[in-house]
Amino acid sequence: MSEELHIPEGGTRDEIYRAILPQIEGVTAGVDDLIANLANVAAILKAAFDFHWVGFYRTTAPGMLMLGPFQGPLACVAIPFDKGVCGAAARTRETVIVDDVENFPGHIACSSLSRSEIVVPLVAGGETRLVLDVDSDKPDDFDAVDRAHLERVVALIARQHFAA
Ligand code: SME
Repeated sequence: MSEELHIPEGGTRDEIYRAILPQIEGVTAGVDDLIANLANVAAILKAAFDFHWVGFYRTTAPGMLMLGPFQGPLACVAIPFDKGVCGAAARTRETVIVDDVENFPGHIACSSLSRSEIVVPLVAGGETRLVLDVDSDKPDDFDAVDRAHLERVVALIARQHFAA
């Protein structure tokens, strides 16, 4: 397994996602430990895009998300399903994109620099098992391209760790 990432310099975000997805697949394949894989996925997304914060919250009790592997500034530890953007994605089991966090009622400001956010839930057996949360320090930084590719990343983790 190569430990060197190949990220196309000057590529569009779409091109960069396309380049890193197979690398995420390569790095995580054959690794049975969920936490290890989440840690490497967070590291790859951070290295590729230098997002302000990128990481995971896992459902560790009913209706409760707990901080998992991440890259970025210090983060809130526990998020109930009825709080924040992460909670909204976990509760609705749908990806949530927030263009301006100041306009999202209940947004949890772990970092005052966060301006926009995307949260993708991993749903297995009808339950949200974890969420992938990405924060940007720029407003309106996420669109359908991020959604499509980040959902692919989460689907890959689901296949490997939460297959029925
Ligand atoms: N802003 C998130 C909380 C997690 S931190 O951004 C890392 C939310 O509102 O759910």
